[in-house]
Amino acid sequence: MAIIRAATEKDIPRVLDLYRELVITTSEIEQKRNLSLKEYLQVYEQIKAMPDHELLVAEDEGEVIGSVVLLIVPNLSHGASPWAVVENIIVTQKHRRRGVGRQLMEYAITRAREAGCYEIQLSSNKRRRGAHRFYGGLGFQAEAHGFRRYF
Ligand SMILES: CC(C)(COP(=O)(O)OP(=O)(O)OC[C@H]1O[C@@H](n2cnc3c(N)ncnc32)[C@H](O)[C@@H]1OP(=O)(O)O)[C@@H](O)C(=O)NCCC(=O)NCCS
Repeated sequence: MAIIRAATEKDIPRVLDLYRELVITTSEIEQKRNLSLKEYLQVYEQIKAMPDHELLVAEDEGEVIGSVVLLIVPNLSHGASPWAVVENIIVTQKHRRRGVGRQLMEYAITRAREAGCYEIQLSSNKRRRGAHRFYGGLGFQAEAHGFRRYF
């Protein structure tokens, strides 16, 4: 079992390594801006300062092996119940299919439920068939059409 906890500043270089495993094509990597660690840490400080924006990591034997972001958003519809979104879930290749992704998602789902959210949602590239089966097993249903416009 991994430990699920909030990321600290020390984890950020490792989280950035994990994010390299998130991209689908190498051209996506090439399109990314080349930021210094200092600049990434400034963004981490912004995340930390936002209430209910959680950057979580999974740690196993002292190694960070996975991560997910959870955002809980205040809302006026649905009886003023907040909604939640998860992003950037990643488990490093050699630790996949050992229940770590499930642990990360269940942590996020429990947090969202405890915060009174009426739903937790996510979007996933149509090509990620394995991830879709993973989400299905966690009770997520593909019942909406997602629309994106990249900038
Ligand atoms: C999706 C991901 C986070 C799952 O993490 P994981 O730790 O491997 O998942 P788990 O071991 O907790 O899997 C739980 C169950 O989900 C299902 N599942 C997970 N990955 C699957 C895959 N690639 N294909 C089919 N089913 C899968 C299985 O039912 C699995 O249970 P089982 O191993 O007992 O059969 C991981 O594969 C990953 O990081 N992928 C690359 C990044 C990515 O695609 N992120 C999603 C972006 S939308």
